[in-house]
Amino acid sequence: MTGLRELVDAARGDLAAAGIAGARAEAELLAAHALGLGRGELTAAALRGADVDGATAAAVTDLVARRCSRVPLQHLTGRAPFRGLDLAVGPGVFVPRPETEVVAGIAVAEAARVAATGAEPLVADLCAGSAAIALAVATEVPEARVLAVEVDPDALAWARRNVEELGPAGRVDLRLGDVIGCATRVAVDWVGHADVVVANPPYIPPDAVPRDAEVRDHDPAIALYGGGEDGLAVPAAVVAAAAELLRPCGLLVMEHAEDQGPATRRLAGGDGWAEAGTARDLTGRPRALVARRAGADDQGAIPGDRPRG
Ligand SMILES: C[S@@+](CC[C@H](N)C(=O)[O-])C[C@H]1O[C@@H](n2cnc3c(N)ncnc32)[C@H](O)[C@@H]1O
Repeated sequence: MTGLRELVDAARGDLAAAGIAGARAEAELLAAHALGLGRGELTAAALRGADVDGATAAAVTDLVARRCSRVPLQHLTGRAPFRGLDLAVGPGVFVPRPETEVVAGIAVAEAARVAATGAEPLVADLCAGSAAIALAVATEVPEARVLAVEVDPDALAWARRNVEELGPAGRVDLRLGDVIGCATRVAVDWVGHADVVVANPPYIPPDAVPRDAEVRDHDPAIALYGGGEDGLAVPAAVVAAAAELLRPCGLLVMEHAEDQGPATRRLAGGDGWAEAGTARDLTGRPRALVARRAGADDQGAIPGDRPRG
């Protein structure tokens, strides 16, 4: 038998030595996963002086070794938190990020505003991955109907699992398809109907390979690199699709890299767009295009903090 507290302390030390930030939290999460406990239960058991058997101790040690080799924590636990949801994730799908919670929040707020008028909000999540954004909208705005489009069959399988586990029945419509040309193919029935188009597309330029091994070696390349010299080929396709899918006055929210604000505002600067701004993430960095389609009942405002420039 091994003392649980000693096991967690050793895990924390190994993770810290490997340069993992938040080593204490990760040690607790990995041990809790191996023991089938919540993190609070794990902490309580360690404080009580609980022991674990040899097989469990070996399982924790193995998880810690894999984490030290930079396998993402979420791939080891199989779960990722997102706006109160506990999503299933693993190899083959992009791990949802905290900054995307802000993007989803803008879509949620707009869908809730539409619901408050008595209408059924129609929200399209393009480049859906695990269905994190689609499920946030569907669970936080019970009146909403959500379309989720994803081109990668492996990612779509994770999305399907999450929708089956967490999705309000019948309100998230998952479709395999390319955002490029989706208004004439996979989402043709949504043309002119969407109240909100929300997307976290791939947007990294080809010469900006991520430094973190967790991202570079474990997120699918198709989820990272946006195409073209500036990484904006898929984001441009998202804006083009939004122009087709959105009803007059509908809102587009699209995540982008910190230095892509001006370029993405230009994408939504042409005919048919009333206003385009940039929203900041929780650390104050400019990280999302927020643009509204023109229309007779123009809202004249876009939600969120959206400094120009
Ligand atoms: C950065 S991930 C975001 C996933 C999810 N929305 C999230 O925020 O966690 C981008 C997703 O877009 C998908 N994707 C890439 N190119 C696409 C395309 N042309 N059409 C549709 N989906 C695409 C990728 O497979 C990946 O799942």
